[in-house]
Amino acid sequence: MPRPDPADARLDGLRRRLKGLAYGGDYNPEQWPAATWREDVSLMREAGVNLVTVGVWSWGQLEPRPGHYEFGWLDEVMDLLAEAGVGVDLATPTAAPPSWLAHEQPETLPVDGEGRRIAFGSRCQYCQSSPVFRYHAARITERLAERYAGHPALAMWHIGNEYGGFGCHCPASVAHFRRWLADRYSTVDALNEAWGTAFWGQRYDSFDHIGTPAPRSRLISGPNPGQLLDFQRFCDAAALECYIAERDIVRRHSPELPITTNFMGSFKHLDYWRWAAEEDVVSLDIYAGPLDPDGPALAAYNFDLMRSLRGGKPWLMLESATGNNLTDGRNYARPAGQLRVRSLQAVARGADSVMFFQWRASRAGAERYHSAMVPHGGTRTRTWREVTALGRDVARLGEVAGDANDQADVAIVWDWENWWAVEGPDHPSNDLRLSDRLMDHYRPLWDANIAVDFVGPRDELGGYRLLVVPNLYLVDDVGADNLTAYVRAGGHLLMSYFSGIVDEFDRVRPGGHPGAFRDLLGIDIDDFSPLPPGDSRSLHYAGYSGTATDWQDIIDLVGAEPLATYTDGELKGGSAATRHRLGNGTATYLGTSPDRETLRRLLLDIVGDAGVAPVLDTPQGVEAVRRGAYLFLLNHTADEATVDLGALPHQAVDLLGADTQPAVTDGLHLPPFGVAVLHDTPGVES
Ligand code: GAL
Ligand code: ZN
Repeated sequence: MPRPDPADARLDGLRRRLKGLAYGGDYNPEQWPAATWREDVSLMREAGVNLVTVGVWSWGQLEPRPGHYEFGWLDEVMDLLAEAGVGVDLATPTAAPPSWLAHEQPETLPVDGEGRRIAFGSRCQYCQSSPVFRYHAARITERLAERYAGHPALAMWHIGNEYGGFGCHCPASVAHFRRWLADRYSTVDALNEAWGTAFWGQRYDSFDHIGTPAPRSRLISGPNPGQLLDFQRFCDAAALECYIAERDIVRRHSPELPITTNFMGSFKHLDYWRWAAEEDVVSLDIYAGPLDPDGPALAAYNFDLMRSLRGGKPWLMLESATGNNLTDGRNYARPAGQLRVRSLQAVARGADSVMFFQWRASRAGAERYHSAMVPHGGTRTRTWREVTALGRDVARLGEVAGDANDQADVAIVWDWENWWAVEGPDHPSNDLRLSDRLMDHYRPLWDANIAVDFVGPRDELGGYRLLVVPNLYLVDDVGADNLTAYVRAGGHLLMSYFSGIVDEFDRVRPGGHPGAFRDLLGIDIDDFSPLPPGDSRSLHYAGYSGTATDWQDIIDLVGAEPLATYTDGELKGGSAATRHRLGNGTATYLGTSPDRETLRRLLLDIVGDAGVAPVLDTPQGVEAVRRGAYLFLLNHTADEATVDLGALPHQAVDLLGADTQPAVTDGLHLPPFGVAVLHDTPGVES
């Protein structure tokens, strides 16, 4: 019997309190006079808000001078919210240390790769290794936690904000890096071996001689890849230490409440597998541009990743944008009506909340032109009308809260250490962007309504029919053996080029490429042959003529059969894709980056071979997702759409339907940006 997860009880408590899904956003009352707080609270009630994230940026107001605390304003805000029945996701304010800390203890400021100390004046200006920063962060966290632990408004805790892990080069960070390395390798000889320091005579005689990786400069050549990779691991670890230190303080005061820190989705610098294991619930900030045609697919990709991080359990969307998100260079407005479908898409993919940055648009500061639930124009605006309507929809979906999406049949392998390594410098091609490559493999599956989970290479894979493995350049032996065993046992696998090349220290595996996967794939790669930017070659796959870009592997077949073939260029007649039967399964290999249509055909053919069916066939731009007993139909287009419900029960009830909840008969009509949430067991109360 698996041990009960204490996080489950904490989340049950949160759900009972919220009576359904969470609705709300970041609330920054410190930017407003007390009179506005009263209006805020009454507008929150009008909009159906039941949860707000408070205090993220408030350290400077809570502790305006060292050791001098001003909690009065926050007491008042918390009391007002409690009276209004709005729960608080209270943040430790440590993502923005106050100006006095920078002034009195400048060693807490981070130093970039060029050796420049970053000046105060924005946010996140601290060194994650600084013992002085950590001391002060622990102090304010302790004071906040002890003061508000029992407050009736307090619903959950939010540690810091969007931890980064970009790396600092100050003396404290260098010392910390050395300690981390000594811990990892025990002896400097082991480090020399792992980093291959025989190259360029980089051998170290002591951990004390090691620094953070030198920035690229015209004066020198490339850095040591092992050092780079370990520095990224270290930055991730240092950030996680900061999170854990604050979490543990908060936990002592509030053992019964859930704790989270907000993730940034497909964010490179933190290994969210490790982070998610330290949280009660995964939470996400998502900003997919309102006009980006890829927006819904990109959002789905991020949502599926978040859901996967804690094994499919519901997660929280803590931040999204009611309109523009200030990152487009131009603040594109959201088309009328789009807010609802984009928000409920998160719920379809496992979110137990719809929340925004932020409640009320700021008057001043860097984000004063960022959209909000209450825009500068207040309640006269279209945004406000859509926000209040959305609040009613979110309330109608209350019964969905806590329900998990079933495990998908298809999984995509996602590994941060690989991400760090594969985008390292001095590679056969320096243009490979792993997140784009993952998205290229995800998009056709999303388009076809094929449900997808993400997994790590060492995870239990038995439940999946198809495993998609884009560019798994770095893999350790355990991961490689796991993928091979999965295929032997009957799994279908699709792997893309530049996989299995190096071990966990970024050292090339001996014996030729693709080192870790030669037996799995039944091929030898004679050489890598990247294509010049913009160049392409023709290929043939199953009666379709497509193109290859970016990369070509020169493949020798050693047991595999050709599946796609180049029809021109130096490699004419050679394999662009291969298939190998191993044990009871099949491993397909793609030695290039094909055009979208070729990749779509190849992927969907394998999906079919693996016996995986879509949730539903829908018109282009209409997304179908199953979450437990609920079928979500989401029209992302500005046109009407009709969905053929086919074999689905004809008595399904639309949770979002008018108050009378009319029964849905055959074809379902969705207006522009329309959403339906069908429950196929009407009459059964959940
Ligand atoms: C997030 C951050 C928020 C706000 C928002 C704007 O990254 O957590 O505080 O800055 O972006 O989109
Ligand atoms: Zn530092």
